[in-house]
Amino acid sequence: MLTQQQEQLIESTAPVVAEHLGAITQRFYPLMFARYPEVKPLFNDAHQADGGQPRALAGAVLAYVQLRQNREKVREVLATVVSKHVSLDIRPEHYPIVGECLMAAIGEVLGDAVTPKIADAWSTLYEELAGLLIELEDHRYLEFERRPGGWRGPREFRIADIRQESTVIRSFVLAPVDGGPVAEHAPGQYIGVRLTIDGEPLYRHYSLSDVPNGKHYRISVKREPQGRASRHLHDAMAVGDTLELLPPAGDLTLQDGDEPLLLASGGVGQTPMLPLARQALAQGRRVVYLHAALDAQHHAFRDEIAALAEAHPEQLRTVMVHERGDQADHIGRIDRELLAQLLPANARCYYVGPQGFMGAIDKALAELGVPVERRHYEHFGPSRPLDAA
Ligand SMILES: Cc1cc2nc3c(=O)[nH]c(=O)nc-3n(C[C@H](O)[C@H](O)[C@H](O)COP(=O)(O)OP(=O)(O)OC[C@H]3O[C@@H](n4cnc5c(N)ncnc54)[C@H](O)[C@@H]3O)c2cc1C
Ligand code: HEM
Repeated sequence: MLTQQQEQLIESTAPVVAEHLGAITQRFYPLMFARYPEVKPLFNDAHQADGGQPRALAGAVLAYVQLRQNREKVREVLATVVSKHVSLDIRPEHYPIVGECLMAAIGEVLGDAVTPKIADAWSTLYEELAGLLIELEDHRYLEFERRPGGWRGPREFRIADIRQESTVIRSFVLAPVDGGPVAEHAPGQYIGVRLTIDGEPLYRHYSLSDVPNGKHYRISVKREPQGRASRHLHDAMAVGDTLELLPPAGDLTLQDGDEPLLLASGGVGQTPMLPLARQALAQGRRVVYLHAALDAQHHAFRDEIAALAEAHPEQLRTVMVHERGDQADHIGRIDRELLAQLLPANARCYYVGPQGFMGAIDKALAELGVPVERRHYEHFGPSRPLDAA
């Protein structure tokens, strides 16, 4: 626990650390990967390259410094971090590695300004934050492990079926090799996937694109032309091949209530929307399902959504938007005008897609009077503000 003197040291040095936090986290990752190469596969190179992950880490540390007296708020802010960690099997023994390298990076960037007392204060602060994350994560691991069909650590799954959903999106149905049941996830959650490519592990997150059924999971993956995991899944994996799954996690889940929903997706951002729509319809709620794709060839799950609309004609309204061509309800982009026409009164809104897509929808919905607590979205990468470039 921080002493009163350490509290004061943190307070007085926080502005300097904040000012250099970008440089510190940029230095931190290469340093950690050089000292502890075994943790490198857990991290996505692309999130390092675009600075998203270093920024997210820096943001979390700073938020903790500011909010640490308010335990409830801290837990709320850390929920996304805990989910990301749990779906990658981050363990207590990883934390001293991060602590050591973060302190080394602080020392390198700030130099002699970091006296032993200042270093001690920041180390203690890190240990406090690490202790809280370990506790929250352990709670989640235990809770999932105890569910029927739950597990801890990587579990081997076999590809039971593959379906091409569009020119670039392919679904994989994954059943456990041990033949046991699989624990239910909350619709909207994602799962950690551990692939082995040329003998090397590679971790990625994929939203579960169907509701739970106790037997298997489904993920739907967009092939990125230069992507390591997605190209491997599309080009090298076939029915019968195996991969490992880590526990499902994520907070883009349906809030209790009976308000109508507006679900808006762009491209592969449709994956969490499908199970959210199914769950909401099963609860008797009204759903406006708005999906934007580049064109008919890139439009995935057309039949699946059409079947849902046929089964729930009173509850589900679908609006398909293509940027080009003539095979959609609307040609162009989802904009404020379209949202204004479709938004049900008192709606709760969920939206997932590229950063620009989510930013535009968020802004339009705010302008249309949807309060922040009814606007839910998720990044398919490190979280960042929607107005960030
Ligand atoms: C919560 C969550 C849910 C997700 N759900 C889905 C889903 O349902 N479906 C789905 O398809 N995806 C989903 N994703 C995204 C997914 O996790 C992967 O990020 C995506 O599949 C790309 O991974 P990849 O290995 O194929 O590409 P990567 O190898 O990570 O590359 C992605 C891009 O970054 C570039 N890049 C890679 N390394 C570097 C580098 N060192 N320098 C510069 N550029 C680089 C590549 O050229 C490529 O354009 C989700 C992500 C999250 C966080
Ligand atoms: C106090 C310590 C830590 C903090 C504050 C922290 C914070 C974060 C944050 C903010 C994110 C991004 C969440 C998001 O996407 O919104 C994240 C992701 C992640 N964290 Fe941590 N983390 C800590 C410790 C660790 C440890 C010990 C490990 C294991 C070595 C780890 C591995 C990861 C990985 C692999 C990701 C996903 C990275 C990616 O997308 O490439 N973290 N963490």
